Amino acid sequence: MAMLETAAPAAKPSSRVKASAPDSRTHYRKFELGQFSFERDEYFVTIGWSAKGARQQHRMSADAFLRALMRDVAWGFFYGWVNFDAMFGTRNLYGRVQFFAGRYNEAYHKAGLSYVEEFDSPTAMETCKAMLRDWCNAGFDPFAAPEETGSTWAGTKQGDNIAAIERFRVATKRMPGIPGDSPLRDDLPVNRAFVDVAQDEPEIRAEPGYEGKLQAFNLFKYLSRSDVTWNPSVTSVCRESLFCPTTEEYILPIIHGNDRVEWFVQLSDEIEWDVSDKETGRPRARVLMKAGDVAAMPADIRHQGFATKRSMLLVWENARSDLPKLYESGQLKPYPVEF
Ligand code: PHB
Ligand code: FE
Repeated sequence: MAMLETAAPAAKPSSRVKASAPDSRTHYRKFELGQFSFERDEYFVTIGWSAKGARQQHRMSADAFLRALMRDVAWGFFYGWVNFDAMFGTRNLYGRVQFFAGRYNEAYHKAGLSYVEEFDSPTAMETCKAMLRDWCNAGFDPFAAPEETGSTWAGTKQGDNIAAIERFRVATKRMPGIPGDSPLRDDLPVNRAFVDVAQDEPEIRAEPGYEGKLQAFNLFKYLSRSDVTWNPSVTSVCRESLFCPTTEEYILPIIHGNDRVEWFVQLSDEIEWDVSDKETGRPRARVLMKAGDVAAMPADIRHQGFATKRSMLLVWENARSDLPKLYESGQLKPYPVEF
């Protein structure tokens, strides 16, 4: 199939997205990024790369691929590793990004079948966004729970859902509701799983001169109206300390490889976490977090969460940019507490 450059918008330098013409049967385009190729059909995404002198292939459900790709796009490649599954994913080098196949799969890597290629982040991001735009059908919201968005992801190309995929992570400067900061989103409906959550707000009485500077809000109410799953939004900022609450239902679409310690506070209901070694994927722990539980997720693991009922989770991140280097060099232990 001939690869075409998409037409360059007049105001920008040439587009760096390599996309084919729509396939005559499925109407989806095929994409290339460096030596990687990406193709989707009615049910699957097929990723191709070269190793040991031959083209290798890996297949994923298009549903799982698009949910993972949506997170990578909305989070700007996130902290550390975003494994789409046990084979394929991205590693954020903050400004540059590595795409890998089999690199963190012990068997593939040892067999010499893995492949890693590095890109500058804006170039790679353009291709990721173009894939999402082309491969998400009308009605499919990769941020929604399966009960909410159904099987609209499957089948040949039918329309698109640009509004859903252009949502990005809420990036609060200090706290939602402060004038000029992110909104409280009272316009969103209460999710079906949270109809019992109280909707009252705290009363704020500021001393004269502090009006508009003192803020408090009902976080449970705020989260009960979240229209996305597995999308920690930055909801309070105190220097490098970020509170990133999120609502979770079904499966975290990525297996996240941490490049720093992060804390989880389970605010409601339950999440089960599969925790494995970041480098090899060997199993390390299975953690069931119940409402009120607190856990520190180490810097040397990858993890994936499972939630049957939509639940509320607070992810507490330290955004210091030198942390990945401090953990990787062994200057910091991968866990925060020595027992
Ligand atoms: C994580 O950093 O491991 C993480 C990502 C997304 C979530 C929850 C946790 O929704
Ligand atoms: Fe994580």
